[in-house]
Amino acid sequence: GADMLIDTYGRVATDLRVSLTDRCNLRCTYCMPEEGLQWLAKPDLLTDDEIVRLVRIAVTQLGITEVRFTGGEPLLRPGLVGIVERCAALEPRPKMSLTTNGIGLKRTAEALKAAGLDRVNVSLDTLRPDVFKTLTRRDRHHDVLDGMAAARAAGLTPVKVNSVLMPGLNDDEAPDLLAWAVEHDYELRFIEQMPLDAQHGWKRDGMITAGDILESLRTRFTLTEEGQEERGSAPAERWIVDGGPHTVGVIASVTRPFCAACDRTRLTADGQVRTCLFATEETDLRAALRSDGEDGSDEAIARIWKQAMWGKKAGSGLDDPTFLQPARPMSAIGG
Ligand code: GTP
Ligand code: 5AD
Ligand code: SF4
Repeated sequence: GADMLIDTYGRVATDLRVSLTDRCNLRCTYCMPEEGLQWLAKPDLLTDDEIVRLVRIAVTQLGITEVRFTGGEPLLRPGLVGIVERCAALEPRPKMSLTTNGIGLKRTAEALKAAGLDRVNVSLDTLRPDVFKTLTRRDRHHDVLDGMAAARAAGLTPVKVNSVLMPGLNDDEAPDLLAWAVEHDYELRFIEQMPLDAQHGWKRDGMITAGDILESLRTRFTLTEEGQEERGSAPAERWIVDGGPHTVGVIASVTRPFCAACDRTRLTADGQVRTCLFATEETDLRAALRSDGEDGSDEAIARIWKQAMWGKKAGSGLDDPTFLQPARPMSAIGG
């Protein structure tokens, strides 16, 4: 309908991902260099009020029903709890989730739950503290585990765990990670590494595929595929583990893309709409937000957003010989 974010392929975006900061307190080798990146300047970042306003426009005028806060690391945003609280008061109330590295979650899980957050996804690539330190360049393994436990205890459930496997580092850990996730009642998903690293070092031959991961898991578990109806527009394909009730997922963006079912729209921390993780163009909402009169009205902003989504490409373009990695890295897109 006229009040939805639709594209020329008939897809409807109902899921909004909002990046709250491009900063992070880890330095995962598949994401960022040791020295970090050129961070966005404070005046360029949307304020808390601006974020809440855009979420309000999205849920009241554009058919968005789910909002995920991402980063960088969204727990580094001082106003996070307040943003969640104000978004929870919107009518209709969106479902709200958070994608985090887990550091600091121990301290904030209760407050986030009380503010109205529904659930969290936490990144954890290894069960070995020494490998964690090599992979993230920080010695914070324990903080992540504590954060996950706190989220589960606070009822931010299901707690999903995102793992990226890297050759020669943690690619032997899939079965151990799954046994551990089942034991702790977390929902594990493995993510294929995508060409979104700031260093532009991704190589297709080097990456661990969904096929590799499933083969490795099947040495210890019986996996039964879940139906397509259950999947809907979720990026993860899920398997039932040893007859259930636990499941394991793979997010195979590279080898089995799911773009045809994509229901996402993205907002960067500096107020740009991205129609796709791999989009090479963005649409500025911040300028409209900050202009006076008709140009800065809710209607004008909704119109710009709809126009941006109408231009969404069919897919990631990863398989095209002319594929170009977007200028903005994963940490500034929000995954
Ligand atoms: P839920 O399944 O609703 O819990 O969320 P999610 O899996 O979409 O969110 P999360 O932030 O945990 O993302 C997990 C991985 O999926 C990340 O590596 C994302 O980059 C990837 N991902 C999320 N959305 C998309 C998408 O639209 N396209 C692609 N190719 N990958 C995505
Ligand atoms: N490819 C795939 N996943 C990535 N993540 C970060 N960078 C990449 C990449 N290049 C993961 C994080 C986190 C999720 C949001 O995205 O590990 O779990
Ligand atoms: Fe959607 Fe782009 Fe991801 Fe495909 S690659 S699922 S179109 S965001």
